[in-house]
Amino acid sequence: LVRQGIVPEEALSSLAPAPIRELTVTPEEKPALAAELASLEHEVQLDLVELQWLQVLAEGWASPLYGFMRERQYLQSLHFGQMLDLKRKCLFPGEEDPNAEDGEDTFPMDGPLNQSVPIVLTIDADEKARLTKDGRVVSAIALSYEGKRIAMLRKGEIFEHRRKERSARQFGSIDERHPGVAQILNAGEFCLGGDIEVLERITYNDGIDKFRFTPIELRKILAEKNADAVFVFQLRNPIHNGHALLMRETRAKLLEKYRNPILLLHPLGGWTKDDDVPLEVRIRQHEAVIEEGLLGADWTVLSIFPSPMLYGGPTEVQWHARARLAAGVHAYIVGRDPAGIADPASESGDALYEVTHGAKVLSMAPGLSHLEIVPFRVAAYDKKAHQMAMFDPTRKADFEFISGTKMRGLARSGQTPPDGFMAPKAWNILAAYYKSIAKQ
Ligand code: ADX
Repeated sequence: LVRQGIVPEEALSSLAPAPIRELTVTPEEKPALAAELASLEHEVQLDLVELQWLQVLAEGWASPLYGFMRERQYLQSLHFGQMLDLKRKCLFPGEEDPNAEDGEDTFPMDGPLNQSVPIVLTIDADEKARLTKDGRVVSAIALSYEGKRIAMLRKGEIFEHRRKERSARQFGSIDERHPGVAQILNAGEFCLGGDIEVLERITYNDGIDKFRFTPIELRKILAEKNADAVFVFQLRNPIHNGHALLMRETRAKLLEKYRNPILLLHPLGGWTKDDDVPLEVRIRQHEAVIEEGLLGADWTVLSIFPSPMLYGGPTEVQWHARARLAAGVHAYIVGRDPAGIADPASESGDALYEVTHGAKVLSMAPGLSHLEIVPFRVAAYDKKAHQMAMFDPTRKADFEFISGTKMRGLARSGQTPPDGFMAPKAWNILAAYYKSIAKQ
C-alpha cells in the first residue's frame, strides 16, 4: 500500500509500530519473582527520581533498553546521543565478555535510536563494596522503594560515574545551581547497570493514576479512537492559549493529509523543580482547558508521561520526542525553549539554552526516523487582537510575553490575565494554587 501511494509512508509507524520491550513481569511470573526478591541478601534503595526512571524503563518508554544502562549504553548515549546496539559489554581487544553466553540481544533494533540522555542508577563507594564479591558484582540485586522490594537487577555491572563530566556533556553546564546538574553532582560516584525485571505496575495513589497509561495501553486507546495520525504535546507547564494554538495549528496541518489526527496531550509527571506547578494542579488545569473547548475533547487524549524532568534544553527535548515513539506517534510539536531553564548565573533570568535551538536540533536529530517534527516559533499575547498569536517581529510593541513570574504575581494579587490569554476556568484553578502557596 505504501509503495502504491495508497498509504503515506509516515503512516507506517502506526500501522506496524515497533514492538515494545516492557520490563514488568507477567502476573504468572510475579509470585516467583516476589519470592526470589524476598530471599535476596543484596538490596539497593531507590529515591523518587530513580523510581520514576524505573517506571520509564518498565513501561517501555526507553525500549529496547533492558534495564539501567551499562557502561556501553552509557557511553553511546553520552557521546553519540544514540543507542547503537544492546551489547552488554565494552571490551578492549582480546578481552572476553563474561556475559558472552547471553549472546547479543535478540530484540530487533533497526538502526540507531536517539537516546540523548543516559538512564542510570547511581550508587556510592560503600554500596559498590557491598555489591561486589571477588571482584564481580553479585548475581542478583533487589531494588526497593520506601522499604518495599519492587524490582530485580541481574547481571550487574558497576562503572565509574564521572559526575562533572556527565553534567558538562548532558547539560553543557556544571553550575550546581542548575537543579539537574545538582542532582548529578550529588549522586553516587558509581553507576550500577543491569537487566531489570519489575514486579508490578508502578503507581502513586495520588488520585491521578487513572491518567497514567503505558505506551502499549496508549496504542490501544489511540487505535480505539480510530486515529490515523497521532501528534504529541509534551509540557510541564499550565496550558495557555498560545500552547493551545500550537496544538490546533498542528491538527489543522495534519488534517490536510489525515482524516482523524488525535492529540496525545502528555504532561510530564515525574520530578520537576520547586517553582513549577505541581502535577495534580496541572492535570486539573488541563482538564479545564479541554472542558472549555480550547482543545477538542473528541480529538484529545490526556495522559501522564512518567519521566522526571532534567532541564537539559535541546538535549532533553530529543529524549522527550524519542520516548513518545513507544506510544506509536507520528508527529511531535516543539516550540520555544523546550525543556529550558533560566541560566542560574544570569541576574536578569536569561535562558540557559538559546531558545530556538531546541526546535532546530530536534528537526535534525539522528535516530528519530518516522517522527515528523512540527516546529513553532514563539507565541505571545497580541494586545491588539486580544489573543495569543505567533509573535510578529514587525510589530513588536503589540506583543506581550506573560511569564510564569508574571502569572504568579497576577494570581497573588487577585488580578486576572488579559482576556484571551488562558481559558477562565483553567486560570481559576491556577490562581487558586498560586494563592495557596502565597499564604505559606
Ligand atoms: S517543556 O519543558 O515541557 O518544554 P513547557 O511546558 O513550557 O516546557 O512547554 C511545552 C511546549 O510548548 C514546548 O514544546 C515548548 O517549546 C512550547 N512552548 C512553550 N511556551 C511557548 C511559547 N510562548 N511559544 C511557542 N512555544 C512555546
